[in-house]
Amino acid sequence: MIILGLSGALTHDPSAALYVDGKLVAAAEEERFIRDKHAKNKMPREAARFCIEQAGISPKDINVVAVPFAPIGLDSPARWHYARRYWYAPDRVIDAIFNGNRRYKRYAGDIKALCESLGINWDRTEFEPVEHHLAHASSCYHLSGFKGKTAILGVDGKGEYATTFFGYGEEGEIHKLREFYDPDSLGGMYGAITEYLGFEMLDGEYKVMGMAPYGDPTKHDLSRIIRCDGSDIRVNTQLINTVGLRRYKEDGRGFYFSKKLIDWLGPRRVGDVADEPYIDYAASIQKLYEDTVLQLIDTHLKKILQETGQLAFSGGGALNVKLNQRIIALPYVKELWVQPASGDSGTAIGAASYAAVKRKEQVETMEHVYLGPSYTNEECVKACEEHPYKPQYEIIDQVPSRIATILADGNPVAWFQGRMEFGPRALGGRSILGCPSAKGVANRINEQIKFRERWRPFCPSILDRVAPEILQTDHPSAFMTFTFDVADSWKERVPEVVHEDGTARAQVVSAEHNPRYHELLLEMEKLTGNGVVLNTSLNRRGEPMVCSPKDALNMFFGSDLQYLIMEDVLVTKSQESHGE
Ligand SMILES: [Fe+2]
Repeated sequence: MIILGLSGALTHDPSAALYVDGKLVAAAEEERFIRDKHAKNKMPREAARFCIEQAGISPKDINVVAVPFAPIGLDSPARWHYARRYWYAPDRVIDAIFNGNRRYKRYAGDIKALCESLGINWDRTEFEPVEHHLAHASSCYHLSGFKGKTAILGVDGKGEYATTFFGYGEEGEIHKLREFYDPDSLGGMYGAITEYLGFEMLDGEYKVMGMAPYGDPTKHDLSRIIRCDGSDIRVNTQLINTVGLRRYKEDGRGFYFSKKLIDWLGPRRVGDVADEPYIDYAASIQKLYEDTVLQLIDTHLKKILQETGQLAFSGGGALNVKLNQRIIALPYVKELWVQPASGDSGTAIGAASYAAVKRKEQVETMEHVYLGPSYTNEECVKACEEHPYKPQYEIIDQVPSRIATILADGNPVAWFQGRMEFGPRALGGRSILGCPSAKGVANRINEQIKFRERWRPFCPSILDRVAPEILQTDHPSAFMTFTFDVADSWKERVPEVVHEDGTARAQVVSAEHNPRYHELLLEMEKLTGNGVVLNTSLNRRGEPMVCSPKDALNMFFGSDLQYLIMEDVLVTKSQESHGE
């Protein structure tokens, strides 16, 4: 059975994923192809086209099209909750009660038009709208490989109306225990404060989390923002998650918080400086988020967790690696599996996996994220030949040892190998690498290409053999979805990848899923004594991750990087021709 999952209903992060007989053969985000971060208000056209081509099928072979967005009936408490809580915005109230999520109808029409234009035989294809949070739930539970009863948690801004999901999975079936609805949203709360702290939602949340360890969470009590009685939450819409006329506006742009928040906390942060009181607000909101989620897990999921200790977690809120570290530390949690694409791009996979399981397909465990396009040496050479900058290149052998030597000399290297990653993290397919013991390499990467805020940490990829010693745990960590405390003895050995608070967001690399990257780590170990590299995504600030050799070359020549390795093709810059 062939199932195509398409996301993008919520106007950002459209993506496509394709299952063939329970195997996830391809998945990609639209932004990578059209070179537009988050591809807002776009449909996943190029991503779907890629998936179909990669699978080597005809669009007419597709049996099911699944989307992570469904109509919500009036019998659900969702619409009533929304109407009651947004009483001060009567147009929204009327819409919620009389129309429901109108967006669904328009969206279903857009999907049909997209599918027809791709050559999918719509009349002979089943259409499966999956509730947004069920898609998130499936993307973590069904792909986790967990056997036995598994607690499921979903936290995001909002789907149709639901913002938070508690449930469990048993024998492939997902059971819903409890949901919270808009405006009572933890993801929304974090997003609103992210905006207040001067960042964009969708990307800025990581920056707030990165800023938090520099601040003091005890200086400001932000608990007025959200009330949690242990089992339920109530966001203070006087302050945040505000709609309509109550929203705070600057230059015609509305924010998800109110003027009252500004009166209380002071003006919105602007610029790149991380200073008081903003770093303290970042610390407070991070703590409030962590404490609230942990309290809710304790209330709604503890009993299930006491049976098997398995927790599957997805939704944008699951990308909060600091929260995840604390979840793993709970006495009744044995293993946490976080969908690596926990943002909405991952719901293309979740909708498809949900539809597959519903049709009695066995869905395989997700063991890696290398689901995008790959390119041959010939294609990389061709891109060099066609590039206006006429790059200097050579085809080399023993790529891992050659690159390890360049890295160990303190140079950053752009590393383009194999299939592109799905999800927000570069995991050794489209990465910029550095030697984590080379003093100042993080600064060099920032100067040459990333221009990231100074407080944002760089992360390590670690050889599987040495990971337990560095991270002091055996907990699996293939996808950079958790932080761990770095052993004291290693903090000095790899200082460039240890965050202010002594943690690292680590990827543990096995030979099985990325043999060349694993080999590179072995070579680094030979040269430096540490089987670790600094790994950050291959892109410039504000751009999506590189997809093709042409993108890689464009990025390379738009930066001061000196080395780019694409498959076996090493591109270098002569000293005179740095960047632009
Ligand atoms: Fe979501």
